Amino acid sequence: MRKKLVIGNWKMHGSRAVNAELLSGILAAGPLPCDAAVCVPFVYVADTAVSLAASALRWGAQDVSAHAQGAYTGEVSAAMLRELGCRYAIVGHSERRAGHAETDAQVADKAKAALAHGLTPVVCVGETLEQREAGQTEAVVKRQLSAVIHALGHCAGEMVVAYEPVWAIGTGRTATPEQAQSVHAVLRAQLRAATAHADTMKILYGGSVKPDNAATLFAQPDIDGGLIGGASLKAADFVAICRAAR
Ligand code: PGA
Repeated sequence: MRKKLVIGNWKMHGSRAVNAELLSGILAAGPLPCDAAVCVPFVYVADTAVSLAASALRWGAQDVSAHAQGAYTGEVSAAMLRELGCRYAIVGHSERRAGHAETDAQVADKAKAALAHGLTPVVCVGETLEQREAGQTEAVVKRQLSAVIHALGHCAGEMVVAYEPVWAIGTGRTATPEQAQSVHAVLRAQLRAATAHADTMKILYGGSVKPDNAATLFAQPDIDGGLIGGASLKAADFVAICRAAR
């Protein structure tokens, strides 16, 4: 049985005061039944590390450079994140693929850089509404994941995968548990063909996960937790989603 994992993706929200209140609200809820983490804006990683040091909650970033170091103005390396205790780095979020024109190859390089420095890459894949309606969902997610599997080689089993249909992100329109499960099953099969560890790997679902739909999503056989945007900004909602992950 895979232990469930719930990761909050704060995106570009928060302030030092707001974050402190959010984290203390989550910690006040006491032990959670799943593994849980928050992926925060880079500038708040250090504060978050201090706030969560004595807790079971992990932390991470929302992106990472593909490069180890050098003249890359504005970028943050995996080693820097690791030095601040990060456990996870989200890579290939659809907001970065779309807004920053990140390619499958760049996402794969970022995942590789993360793993090389002890971070677990949380590799996001997902189709747009247009692609879903054109019947391309499976081909799109397989292509996105395949680039990362190829780049990671024998370490592919160490990533976390997050299926996030683009049309479900921040829209309040969640994939049905059946829709999500069917894509997760496709991804699991693809992982099985690539690594002996596929059955212990976590495949998260993301896209309008809320306290009232989390339990049915997480009950699906290949959904191992969630990547949570909007609802991770409210302590009570994030805790409720974590409690649904058992
Ligand atoms: P959402 O975002 O939960 O607000 O839909 C999920 C994500 O983008 O990771």
